Amino acid sequence: MLADDFGREISGVRVSLTDRCNFDCVYCHNEGLGDTRGPMEPADDEMTADDVVRFLEVAREFGVESVKFTGGEPMLRQDLEEIVRRTPDGMETSLTTNGTYLPGRAEALREAGLSRVNVSQDAMDPDAFAELTKSNGYEDVLRGVEAALDAGLAPVKLNMVVFEQTAGYVPQMVEHAAENDGLQLQLIEYMPELAGRPEGAVDIDRVHGWLAEQADRIEHRAMHDRRRYYVEGEDGGEGMVEIVDPVENPNFCANCGRVRVTHEGYLKGCLNRNDDLKSMGEMTKPEIRTAFRETVAERVPYYGEYLVEEDGEWVLNEKYLEPQPAD
Ligand code: 5AD
Ligand code: SF4
Repeated sequence: MLADDFGREISGVRVSLTDRCNFDCVYCHNEGLGDTRGPMEPADDEMTADDVVRFLEVAREFGVESVKFTGGEPMLRQDLEEIVRRTPDGMETSLTTNGTYLPGRAEALREAGLSRVNVSQDAMDPDAFAELTKSNGYEDVLRGVEAALDAGLAPVKLNMVVFEQTAGYVPQMVEHAAENDGLQLQLIEYMPELAGRPEGAVDIDRVHGWLAEQADRIEHRAMHDRRRYYVEGEDGGEGMVEIVDPVENPNFCANCGRVRVTHEGYLKGCLNRNDDLKSMGEMTKPEIRTAFRETVAERVPYYGEYLVEEDGEWVLNEKYLEPQPAD
C-alpha cells in the first residue's frame, strides 16, 4: 500500500461518477466541488466506464482495497452495474446513494458484486424530508432501503447529516435503526464550509453525550478514533450508531486514508481542498500511476497540519502559503 508523508496508508478510493442529482439537499457538499443538480441528462464531462475501470486497476496495483462510488447521485449512471462488475478482483465496492433508484436495481448491483450501500436519510418525516432534499422522494427512499436489504446488501448504513434542521430527528432515527434488523445509522457532522452555510452547525459533542446515555455499550475503535454506540430498541433489538465528526478534528484527518476522484476524472487528495487536482483525462496507465503517486505524496492532513489552530481559530499553516513576490 502507498503511504503519504504523514504515514497514512491509502487503503480506499472514493470515486464520484456524476455531479448530477435528482435531489437538491440544502446541505450538499458535492464532494467539495460546489453546486449540484442541473440537467439530468448524461453529461459529457463525466468519466466513461473505461476511464473509471482504468483508474481502479491502477489503484488496485497500489494495494487499494476498497472503492466507494458516490456523486451527485451515482445511480443516475446507467452503466453503474457495469462499473461495479468490472471493478478489479480484491477490491470491495460500495455505494453512497440517495436510495431512490434502488428499487429495481439493487438486485442487479448485488449480482454485479456490490458489497454495501449507504443511503442518505436525514429525517423520519416526509415533510421534513421534502424540505431538506427539495424532493418528493421520501417513500422511494424507504422502498430503496427495503430493496437493498431484500437483495442481501445488509447492513445498510443510513447517512444522516446532523445540523440545525435535522438534529430534532436524531432520536427517531436512532430508534428506527435499533428496531429494524439490517440497518445501521451513521450520524455525520455537518460540514458548513463546504456547503457554504456556516450557520446551522450543531455541537457534535452534545450528540456524543446524548448517545452515550442511550447506549447499552460503546466500542471505541482506536484506529479510526470512532465510537460505535449500540442502542437497544423498544422491541429488544439492537442498533449500531456511529458518529462521523471530521470538522476541526485532527484525529480524523490523521486517520484519513482515502484518495478521491471527481466525476471529471481529477485526482483529489482531500475533500476540503481543490488546489491539488490532477486530471487523468487523456492519460495512459503509466501516466495514471505517476499521477496517483504524486497525489498521494502531496497529501496533507487538513486539520492539524494544513490548517492549524491559533487562539481557537483554524488558520492556514504558513508553510502552505504561496511565497509572495517581494515588492
Ligand atoms: N456535511 C456533511 N455531510 C454531507 N454530505 C453531503 N453534504 C454534506 C455536508 N455538507 C453527506 C451526505 C451524503 C454523503 C455523500 O455526504 O450524507 O450521504
Ligand atoms: Fe447532494 Fe446526495 Fe443530496 Fe444529491 S442526495 S443533493 S448528492 S447530498
